[in-house]
Amino acid sequence: MAGDANTIRGAVSPQVMRSVMSYYPTGVAVITSMTKDKPVGFVVGSFTSISLDPPLVGFFVATESSTLPLIQEAGVFCCNVLSSDHGALSAKFSSKTGDRFDGVDWRPAGTKSPILREAVAWLDCAHYDTYQVGDHYLVVGEVLELRAARNVTPLVFHKGSYGTTGQQNDLAPVRETM
Ligand SMILES: Cc1cc2nc3c(=O)[nH]c(=O)nc-3n(C[C@H](O)[C@H](O)[C@H](O)COP(=O)(O)O)c2cc1C
Repeated sequence: MAGDANTIRGAVSPQVMRSVMSYYPTGVAVITSMTKDKPVGFVVGSFTSISLDPPLVGFFVATESSTLPLIQEAGVFCCNVLSSDHGALSAKFSSKTGDRFDGVDWRPAGTKSPILREAVAWLDCAHYDTYQVGDHYLVVGEVLELRAARNVTPLVFHKGSYGTTGQQNDLAPVRETM
């Protein structure tokens, strides 16, 4: 609508943008990687499939992320999809304080990036490309190996709260290795 403040480029504040976008539900994934001496990881709601051939996935991460440079240096990462009872795990991996891996059970993927034991599904990736888009980077990974679990409901983030789809998805196990 002409004359409406929100039609003027630059008039949309980050707060309004965040608030309105919170109505769009997302899944929750933990992106992990391994530095020389310790595992690193953080939560994203922006994880998505990008391409089937080649198999590419990606996520958007704020340019000020402290973990992204470590992941970029490793050149590999694992995307761990969380299930409905992982609200606390998500809070832990998005917290600025404390050791995010303290008390978390994990094992190394082929790239050595951590696979969280409780992940519903995981995709082990080699870094493919990174693009800066506004105040975020789009990080793209080429999937090297992936698995999915059975009988699980996903963790969903919607309007600032955790929930789920309320359906049991009886997924067929998936295993692919390049
Ligand atoms: C449910 C949920 C989804 C999130 N999604 C994203 C996301 O897609 N991109 C992002 O940069 N941060 C996202 N965050 C915030 C980061 O997890 C958080 O800022 C974290 O502290 C970043 O860590 P770092 O500074 O160690 O990289 C999300 C947080 C939560 C709780």
